[in-house]
Amino acid sequence: MRRFYNKPLSFFITLLLFLVQFLMIPTTVSSSKLVPEDVSKLKSWVADNINEFNKRRANISQGIPRINLDMRLAKAEDMVKVITVAKDASLADYQTITDAINSIPLHNKQRTIIKISGGEYWEKITIECSKRFVTLYGDPVDMPKIVFNGTAEQYGTVYSATVAVESDYFMAVNVIFANSAPMPNVNITGAQAVAMRISGDKAAFHNCKFVGFQDTLCDDRGRHFFMNCYIRGTVDFIFGNGKSLYLNTTIESVAEGTGVITAQGRENVADNSGFTFIYCNITGIGNNTYLGRAWKERPRVVFAYTYMGHLINYEGWSTGKYPHRNETVYYGEYKCRGPGASSSRRVRYAKLLSDEEAKPFLSMNYIKGNKWLIPPPKF
Ligand SMILES: *[C@@H]1O[C@H](CO)[C@@H](O)[C@H](O)[C@H]1NC(C)=O
Ligand SMILES: *[C@@H]1O[C@H](CO)[C@@H](O)[C@H](O)[C@H]1NC(C)=O
Ligand SMILES: *[C@@H]1O[C@H](CO)[C@@H](O)[C@H](O)[C@H]1NC(C)=O
Ligand SMILES: *[C@@H]1O[C@H](CO)[C@@H](O)[C@H](O)[C@H]1NC(C)=O
Ligand SMILES: *[C@@H]1O[C@H](CO)[C@@H](O)[C@H](O)[C@H]1NC(C)=O
Ligand SMILES: *[C@@H]1O[C@H](CO)[C@@H](O)[C@H](O)[C@H]1NC(C)=O
Ligand SMILES: *[C@@H]1O[C@H](CO)[C@@H](O)[C@H](O)[C@H]1NC(C)=O
Repeated sequence: MRRFYNKPLSFFITLLLFLVQFLMIPTTVSSSKLVPEDVSKLKSWVADNINEFNKRRANISQGIPRINLDMRLAKAEDMVKVITVAKDASLADYQTITDAINSIPLHNKQRTIIKISGGEYWEKITIECSKRFVTLYGDPVDMPKIVFNGTAEQYGTVYSATVAVESDYFMAVNVIFANSAPMPNVNITGAQAVAMRISGDKAAFHNCKFVGFQDTLCDDRGRHFFMNCYIRGTVDFIFGNGKSLYLNTTIESVAEGTGVITAQGRENVADNSGFTFIYCNITGIGNNTYLGRAWKERPRVVFAYTYMGHLINYEGWSTGKYPHRNETVYYGEYKCRGPGASSSRRVRYAKLLSDEEAKPFLSMNYIKGNKWLIPPPKF
């Protein structure tokens, strides 16, 4: 009787002590810190945020307990492997990125950095879901370009991607992703052509370019971070049901007629997805590009501190063929500037966000970045 009673009791006391210990550790502050209103402080804000994971990891290794450390990621980062790709076989382990990816085992558990020399790589690549922790790292002064010309007609839109990533913890640095299929026109059907599809969770892109026309970047699902990137297209060229933060990224529309930047794919009330653009630069030709259209029932898109060129149609947003979606879209703008920024002629359902409304979109917490973002590798 005693034994039966005491054991669970002491167990619960120990558990309680542990919980108290954990709860007393202050939760990290930078995760909720808002992006600075002064752009000159952006660099250090980003640096602080992407160092948070490593600080937590260091604390753990010093025995300072810390809840919420992603142990799978911590272990992967403890054993980094680097393999190289170059056109010249004498300079690298592999001559194609496909071969380098093939060398990574299924159920991979270690960070594998594929260091790629400059040049054009004509390849169509899928990184399947069990190959986690892959980094594509391009030469910063001679960025490699991965290019193919798959189209919707041939593969279906989603499978037309030049590079498709289905695994978690992916990172790309200094890489150009391109789809070179011709620009759609009235005479071509099924010409949607994806350059990159990211379907894994916890992915980061630093200094990458996404080049295509219709449907360039398929931000399919999962949480993603884009920093200092460039995205070019015509229609729906950032689309999908991902939850992403785009920072300091140039968005260029080359649409000759009507252009559409985002076709965010949120459909159900329960879907926790959306695209947020902060300190971006929207540039390009024409005067008839929309910030977003209601491809799905409940898209959620916010532009903050973003420069919008003349190309943006003064209405800003479109419900396209679904006028009733004006009731379910969440299209927000906050402190944007430039000739295309919010005007009195915006559609009525566009929201000019208050400080309070903007808050959830303006910190790393939006993608829970402090739990998984890590600095890009240095060579
Ligand atoms: C933003 O991007 C520009 C290039 O477009 C770069 O010069 C600048 O350093 C970037 N800012 C930050 C905070 O990284
Ligand atoms: C690391 O531990 C120190 C000392 O307890 C604490 O002040 C700091 O907030 C911790 N940092 C993180 C990122 O956990
Ligand atoms: C893709 O490129 C190949 C080889 O250059 C060419 O034969 C094919 O017609 C192209 N397809 C499209 C859709 O442009
Ligand atoms: C479409 O095809 C017609 C008939 O061949 C041609 O006259 C026209 O220039 C084409 N349009 C485009 C945009 O290529
Ligand atoms: C936006 O990008 C265009 C094209 O790269 C550049 O000319 C322009 O100066 C940029 N504008 C801002 C406000 O950064
Ligand atoms: C766009 O420019 C064309 C030609 O300059 C003009 O006729 C048209 O009214 C403009 N449309 C908008 C939406 O400003
Ligand atoms: C949506 O459109 C309908 C019909 O034009 C209109 O009655 C309604 O007020 C609109 N709602 C919003 C939020 O703009």
